[in-house]
Amino acid sequence: MTLGKIKMASDFQGWIAAHQVRFEGVLRELLPRAEVAPQRLHEAMRYAVLDGGKRVRPLLAFAAGELVGADVKRVNIAAAAVELIHAYSLVHDDMPCMDDDVLRRGKPTCHVQYDDATALLVGDSLQTLAFQLLAEHRLSADAASQLEMIKLLAVATGSRGMAGGQAIDLSSVGKSLTLPELEFMHIHKTGALIRAAVMLGAQCGSVSPAQLAQLDRFGKLIGLAFQVVDDVLDCEADTATLGKTAGKDADNDKPTYVSLLGINEARNMASRLHREALETLAEFGDSAQRLRELADFIVLRKF
Ligand code: IPE
Ligand code: IPE
Ligand code: MG
Ligand code: MG
Ligand code: MG
Repeated sequence: MTLGKIKMASDFQGWIAAHQVRFEGVLRELLPRAEVAPQRLHEAMRYAVLDGGKRVRPLLAFAAGELVGADVKRVNIAAAAVELIHAYSLVHDDMPCMDDDVLRRGKPTCHVQYDDATALLVGDSLQTLAFQLLAEHRLSADAASQLEMIKLLAVATGSRGMAGGQAIDLSSVGKSLTLPELEFMHIHKTGALIRAAVMLGAQCGSVSPAQLAQLDRFGKLIGLAFQVVDDVLDCEADTATLGKTAGKDADNDKPTYVSLLGINEARNMASRLHREALETLAEFGDSAQRLRELADFIVLRKF
């Protein structure tokens, strides 16, 4: 069986498909209805979130949640919060003041379909909706640990996480970064949210501090690998397959793993991170199979 031309065990493909379909319904319910005022903003929020994307972060949350026997209803909320933040980051990332892109998930970007001001507000509203969900649904046995979860997502999203990484990305245009600087940027702009997805999924169940530390390391390694592969695909894949404009990093003169190391070394780097990520799961045995399969997907994907 294949997904995007990658060979995957059929039960894993079924697991992905089942979660993707079910989760689409969860998002549809959680987002404000397009008929409710302000209709245009709500319609644009739904446009930016629904019917697209691989849903890698939610899938990581579901896999981590299953690993620790978490209630899927709780993981739905954690996964939705992360995906809403991710969708917001894409809407802003595509705006003329950032990467200036016109295609996202095979559709016109939010600011092209609507307008710049609406796209800004879509980002603002998706971000705050994410935290509203974490505050209004029970995710953990006690309030203190739920507050920790909210804080974890806030840090992963803000200036010490995704937004900080985006700031470095923008200020690095036309510059050549060192490898540690590039790694720092990628760990923040993309890795932080992927790491948060794994952590929040696990924290919806009962997980020991030692297990959480292992999962944190897994999330960090696979989050970095994700952006290395994104850099490779930007240069190797075509626009139709990606659903976003290929070659954009070179056009925008962005420092990437490809521009710094070349395509082969960037691929080697992704393979090394993949291997190290899998090593962190060794002690979990069979219960971490879905996380292993997702790690394989993240590194071997073609889109
Ligand atoms: C794209 O993320 C932006 C990055 C952080 C590299 P994804 O590749 O997960 O985008 P979707 O959600 O599948 O569209
Ligand atoms: C985006 O990185 C990271 C975030 C949106 C936080 P990119 O700019 O490389 O993502 P794409 O390639 O446009 O999806
Ligand atoms: Mg960008
Ligand atoms: Mg971009
Ligand atoms: Mg990219």
